[in-house]
Amino acid sequence: MKYFLTTAIDYTNGDPHIGHAYEKILGDVIGRYHRSFDGPTFFLTGVDQHGQKVQQAAQKTGVQPLEFAQRVTAKFLALWDKLRIQKDGWAATTDPRHKQTVQKVLQSLYDKGELVKAKYSGFYSVRQEQFLTDKERNEAGEFGPEWGEVTFFEEENWYFPLAKHKEWLKNFVETHPDFVIPEFRRNELINAIERLSGNLCVSRPKERLSWGIEFPFDPDYVTYVWFDALLNYVTFAGYLAGEDPSLPNFNELWPCRAHIIGKDILVPAHGVYWPIMLHAMGFPDEQMPRLLVHGWWNVAGAKMSKSLGNVIDPDILADKYGADALRYYLMRDNVVGQDSDFSEERLVMRYNSDLANDLGNLVNRTINMCRRYRNGVIASPPWNDPDLTAIRSLANAVIERYRQAFERFEVHAAIEAAWELVAKANTLVEQKAPWKLAKDPAKSELLDAVLYTLAETVRLLALLVSPVIPAPSAKILEQLAAEQIRILQWGGLPSGHQLGEHSPIFPRIAA
Ligand code: ME8
Ligand code: MG
Repeated sequence: MKYFLTTAIDYTNGDPHIGHAYEKILGDVIGRYHRSFDGPTFFLTGVDQHGQKVQQAAQKTGVQPLEFAQRVTAKFLALWDKLRIQKDGWAATTDPRHKQTVQKVLQSLYDKGELVKAKYSGFYSVRQEQFLTDKERNEAGEFGPEWGEVTFFEEENWYFPLAKHKEWLKNFVETHPDFVIPEFRRNELINAIERLSGNLCVSRPKERLSWGIEFPFDPDYVTYVWFDALLNYVTFAGYLAGEDPSLPNFNELWPCRAHIIGKDILVPAHGVYWPIMLHAMGFPDEQMPRLLVHGWWNVAGAKMSKSLGNVIDPDILADKYGADALRYYLMRDNVVGQDSDFSEERLVMRYNSDLANDLGNLVNRTINMCRRYRNGVIASPPWNDPDLTAIRSLANAVIERYRQAFERFEVHAAIEAAWELVAKANTLVEQKAPWKLAKDPAKSELLDAVLYTLAETVRLLALLVSPVIPAPSAKILEQLAAEQIRILQWGGLPSGHQLGEHSPIFPRIAA
């Protein structure tokens, strides 16, 4: 059984920003944790390439929508490589395999009587790609600036009757407490379901919007971008793909253990449309995915926006500080589910204090002392020193807490657990002062035990940080010559083990 997780697919009408990077890194970190310490894992992410916003952005640039979408997609792809995102699947919605799946789903919903054609007149927000009702008006009775340009029109479209499934959804969400993580977001969703009424418009007439997937039974229409985009999660997991060897085996992967999304797309897209779509498609309750909803990265308390000119570019930060420094900061300074404030000073501060100082010094001192006093060969004599025993028990307790934190998707808590071990090991160096033990032949066995304890602690730490900072982790394991010793449990290094060459891994960033 594979651990399957996804992140939201990014709109290709703009450039990737720090919020996108955070989300992909979060997915990658959870994916790497499961791949390393749990079992086979499949991480899917991708790009949302259709819709009116993309069509308009292309028009402004003076190119065809496909060419525009492909250009922006290339930027996302290059950035995900730079940030070491290890993805197993790539969901691009212009992929012909996706088009096929969307059309099959539409056809089957139509055959089941789940789609109806009707005339509608009303207001439409291009920015949010949705029809607006009076619920969306603000206190002044207007559609606020968050909706962007709002236009009124009348048109005939295809509708998917959401309200028909309202009772099912309400009951499902109420009886499945972990459908939405964290808990407070579930309450928000339950309130939204109470207000649910009407139908979801799932088509757009081609005369208004041509950039989308054509309706299989009504070629004057294309598919509403959200209906198309949500289906990426099943298309690229192999749903209805028959024996297509380029896609995974759907039954092996589904259900998704976590769709990782931002708080803005829980209601209505992922919390209402998506489960109702799956339910109408015939998915039983046990086959519903789970939603992990993260908060937003703001800048000085304000939302990032092009108009404010405060959009943070992860590409520049990765070039300036390295992908791992950025990954560490984003994972360490955020509580999954909560908003965070981006600050370049804090990124530098976190790197210098946690990585260069705490972890970097521990690794340096440990390997250097093993080389200086034992030519890099570590021995594990029997010992009963209480300080060493305490470190060993702490390591085992930390591993347990780390695993539990990852099971709850609390990446910051997993990192905090690891750093408790870093701190204790640094204290041990001061307590035991190996440079003094080295001068006393009677303390030779204790020195061996101390060096072994430190080297084994460093090995475990390299594994614990590997999901978050994979490149430095690999370097530490290489310097310990322990690349193959992947067991996440005390005692992996054998007695007599020869360490490799050492060089500093976390050079300080000058402030
Ligand atoms: O919503 N901080 O695309 P998108 C953290 N294509 N996360 C943020 C963020 C911020 N400041 N800004 C955006 C879409 N995000 C759709 C998804 S999935 C079937 C279709 C998150 O490019 C946002 O919440 O606007 C979403 O999860 C992801 O980035 C892509 O946002
Ligand atoms: Mg968005």
